[in-house]
Amino acid sequence: MTAMRLADKVCLVTGSASGIGEACVKTYAREGGKVIIVDRDLEGAQRVAGEIRSAGGVAEVFRANVAKPDEVEAMVRFALDRFGRLDVLHNNAMFSVFSKRTADIDLQGWQRTLDVSLTAYWYGIKAAINQAMLAQGKGSIINTASTSGLTGDYLQCAYNVAKAGVINLTRVTAIEYARKGIRCNAICPGPTLTQGMQLGIEKGFSDAKYLAEGVPMGRMATPQEIANVGLFLASDESSFVTGTAVIADGGLTAHSGMRYAPGRGPDW
Ligand SMILES: NC(=O)c1ccc[n+]([C@@H]2O[C@H](COP(=O)([O-])OP(=O)(O)OC[C@H]3O[C@@H](n4cnc5c(N)ncnc54)[C@H](O)[C@@H]3O)[C@@H](O)[C@H]2O)c1
Repeated sequence: MTAMRLADKVCLVTGSASGIGEACVKTYAREGGKVIIVDRDLEGAQRVAGEIRSAGGVAEVFRANVAKPDEVEAMVRFALDRFGRLDVLHNNAMFSVFSKRTADIDLQGWQRTLDVSLTAYWYGIKAAINQAMLAQGKGSIINTASTSGLTGDYLQCAYNVAKAGVINLTRVTAIEYARKGIRCNAICPGPTLTQGMQLGIEKGFSDAKYLAEGVPMGRMATPQEIANVGLFLASDESSFVTGTAVIADGGLTAHSGMRYAPGRGPDW
């Protein structure tokens, strides 16, 4: 029998009551990780924990709004109190104002987007490093960024800026702590069919068919396909991988975006 890939590693994932985060905690737990589900949605987090425990995994729940630094510090303390260490911090929660042109975004929406989708990631990193990983001399930090951090999208300026920031936050953290045993990597998913995405489709912010057509593979990712990347970055299999932004986008960012004529594109 092969060993489980995250045997006894303590893994905390923010925004894990839903979508990509949910797929990540379930995957990490299936591979032997002891997971901490952090979300502001307590009911959702408890559902996910229940499903992990029913499958024989180890899961704890911590309710937090990651936009609040004291709650981020408390979530790391919780991991240490429960399990005595923190091996993997996966920053993943997000908020975004959508469907507004750059000059139409209001200051409140801009700030909330940056608070939840960028500043909270930095604060999580700070808490994990200072409270746990430096003393351990080991740790893997994963940040869910996005293809939206690599290129621009229409009507998502604040989100694009936050995700681009997450990618460079990842690089700086990686180089500064590389000799302390702490790795830091980002994941850049393309469009992924999560509960959050589904909600956006229902509200008319996005269109499922249109989104899928823009991807060379002709479809969105499943949350599991993104969690598989997280699993690699969380495990010691990626021991020489740090400071990268792993793209999992079905070819989206490999394409220049130019559409010459019918028959000279994905329909060829
Ligand atoms: N779905 C996509 O197409 C896609 C593509 C690229 C990147 N991403 C990124 O993947 C990550 C997860 O996205 P998803 O689609 O799975 O989202 P989702 O909406 O399905 O899940 C997000 C979770 O985060 C929680 N959350 C939101 N704000 C929070 C806060 N302040 N404190 C604590 N928890 C909070 C929500 O309650 C929810 O459970 C995000 O960082 C997102 O930007 C998603």
